[in-house]
Amino acid sequence: CAKETTESATFVYRGTFVHSTQQTALQILKDALLGVDLSIFFQSLPLSSQFSQLKVISFICHKAVFFGLLHSSEFFMPGLVDTHIHASQYSYAGTALDMPLLQWLNAYTFPVESCFKDLEFARKVYTQIVRRTLRNGTTTACYFATIHTEASLLLGQIANDFGQRALVGKVCMDRNDCVKHYKETLQDSQDETCRFIKELLEKKYPLVKPVVTPRFAPSCTGALLEQLGEIAKNNNLHIQSHISETHEEVKLVKELFPESESYTDVYRKHNLLTDKTVMAHGCHLSDEELALFRETGASLSHCPNSNFSLCSGVLNVRNVLKHKVKLGLGTDVAGGYSASMLDAVRRALDASKVLTIQDPKYKTLSFEEVFRIATLGGSQALSLDDQTGNFEVGKDFDALRINVAAEGGPIDLIQDEEPKILLEKFLNLGECHFLFAPENLSLM
Ligand code: GUN
Ligand code: FE
Repeated sequence: CAKETTESATFVYRGTFVHSTQQTALQILKDALLGVDLSIFFQSLPLSSQFSQLKVISFICHKAVFFGLLHSSEFFMPGLVDTHIHASQYSYAGTALDMPLLQWLNAYTFPVESCFKDLEFARKVYTQIVRRTLRNGTTTACYFATIHTEASLLLGQIANDFGQRALVGKVCMDRNDCVKHYKETLQDSQDETCRFIKELLEKKYPLVKPVVTPRFAPSCTGALLEQLGEIAKNNNLHIQSHISETHEEVKLVKELFPESESYTDVYRKHNLLTDKTVMAHGCHLSDEELALFRETGASLSHCPNSNFSLCSGVLNVRNVLKHKVKLGLGTDVAGGYSASMLDAVRRALDASKVLTIQDPKYKTLSFEEVFRIATLGGSQALSLDDQTGNFEVGKDFDALRINVAAEGGPIDLIQDEEPKILLEKFLNLGECHFLFAPENLSLM
């Protein structure tokens, strides 16, 4: 579908491209050409954010300025999309995994999150997590911050400065019986959410958007949920929260919201289930609840490392897909100990194998299916698929250049392998080491 372009400059990449489409989990384009519109690149934006704004175009014009020729061990794939990650919990990632969810929140999470009142501490942790996730190949992240507005705004600024596409949420919670100093009043939560949204939008960051973030139903009064639903609706905003992660939590929600038919019904009643909502976990949702997700267009974030680490449950991904609910993958740092989406891919494959071990009739997910969930699925779950998730013409060029046989890397190739094998090896064995320069996108 060639289209004449008057743009003055184009990057042309030649090589193998692997990505997912609506029709197929893995499309491989061998020895293909991909043109990237550089007009934005030459405007005077900071280097990092320019880079993430390159657009895939359909016609390669004669003014092409660069050919990225690739080796046979290299390919391009879409950037990984982390649909659920707590930036504020990165300081204790890899520790404190010895308790179930509700005790874990009180013992570790709330005390650590309360430290983000200190902006210098916040700056340190938020810089580390944004750098780390970018190094790991996460080009889009959907972040929980903490209840602190200033620190949450700082996370937005840091993501923008490093050129990471991000949804950033100031956490809202007006109920906390255990760590009493880590909660807000109803009024403060409302006012500060509005201030956070207004101030983040005023910055006009090209890649960063606010997301309305009730922590989860047990941390919020019905009045707060109601207010947050209103705020999201009036401003057409994204919404994120947690749902049905553990049995104990589901039971607690039943006690706290006896008038609701289900956990999902609590969010639905408060206008928090929309086509811009992403809910983490959903391990214990009923078929009726999944049908509500489908009806409202809300999506799920599958966080298998966290589900294993906190012994929360195992999401039945086949059943979610059968109900046609949008699904992405998340690291859920620090319930999940790894900030790498490659780890999330491997744990998702493990989770599906656990279900097959329990019931041999359960069809294990293929690596191609999990690849789609980690890229296009994630962008759909975050309603960002008009901009990112694959290499369709018109989308932004959020791409990873993978060299499976990089010197000193974890993979040895005995012979030239087909791209499908290269991708499978990369997903199972690879490591990412993104280097912070547009010229040097190489990953191993
Ligand atoms: N539910 C409510 N808050 C949290 C959190 O911080 N992490 C996880 N995994 N689940 C939650
Ligand atoms: Fe979480």
